[in-house]
Amino acid sequence: MVAIGPADRVFILTGAGISAESGIPTFRGVNGLWRSYRIEEVASPHAWRRDPRLVWEFYSMRRCAASAAKPNRGHHALARMEESLHDRLFLCTQNVDNLHEQAGSSRVVHMHGELFKSRCDRCNSAPFEDSATYDPQRAVPRCGCGGQIRPHICWFGEVPYGLDRIASALDGCTVFVAIGTSGVVEPAASFVARVRGRARTIYVGPEEPANTLAFSECHWGKAGDVLPNLFRFE
Ligand code: APR
Repeated sequence: MVAIGPADRVFILTGAGISAESGIPTFRGVNGLWRSYRIEEVASPHAWRRDPRLVWEFYSMRRCAASAAKPNRGHHALARMEESLHDRLFLCTQNVDNLHEQAGSSRVVHMHGELFKSRCDRCNSAPFEDSATYDPQRAVPRCGCGGQIRPHICWFGEVPYGLDRIASALDGCTVFVAIGTSGVVEPAASFVARVRGRARTIYVGPEEPANTLAFSECHWGKAGDVLPNLFRFE
């Protein structure tokens, strides 16, 4: 049980593992996405320049999988946590699905972008809601400026979103909880090292993450099993 006191400020970092029980594949697990697709072919600026249709096929497949998924008990536990903590909870996710929002979390920072948004690859027009799946027989959709419409995803080699807000929340938190992330992708993998010594550092997942030594407390198990009874609010 993790006691959260009235003065505590909690930073939650979620990864693909929290959506695994909703049926969305992780990246590096047994049936992980990176076992079936090469990152450099579907999730990088180089891939987009070389074959935007293949990139859209990959994200269309992910949109189909995510739109069929429902939040699990782990997502709902974090939504309830927000009801108790309000602005003392900062929820940062590496995930691009919208299951946190579907469960009721209202303030979610998607540092790697959002699957159900698209944007122009040329002008600075704002990302827009888009759940369309791509028809490989048709040309890649175009913006009015002539640019191509791309997924609003942070690809490898690009800068994640919201880093200033994330840094400020990390520097102000007293409890840091990472859930369902293998701890191999930066900058998220180094968040725990940034707060160690100043905040309680907790990991939730079924197996050791790569940065396991940085955590002072680990609760082994699936997010949907562990999270509903993990926190006590004082
Ligand atoms: N509950 C909690 N954790 C789980 C569960 C579960 N039911 N099932 C699997 N996990 C854990 C695995 O043990 C693993 O540590 O989830 C983690 C998933 O790791 P990855 O597949 O590497 O996903 P993630 O850490 O989120 O990847 C980070 O890499 O490819 C990029 O942009 C992509 O955001 C992603 C980033």
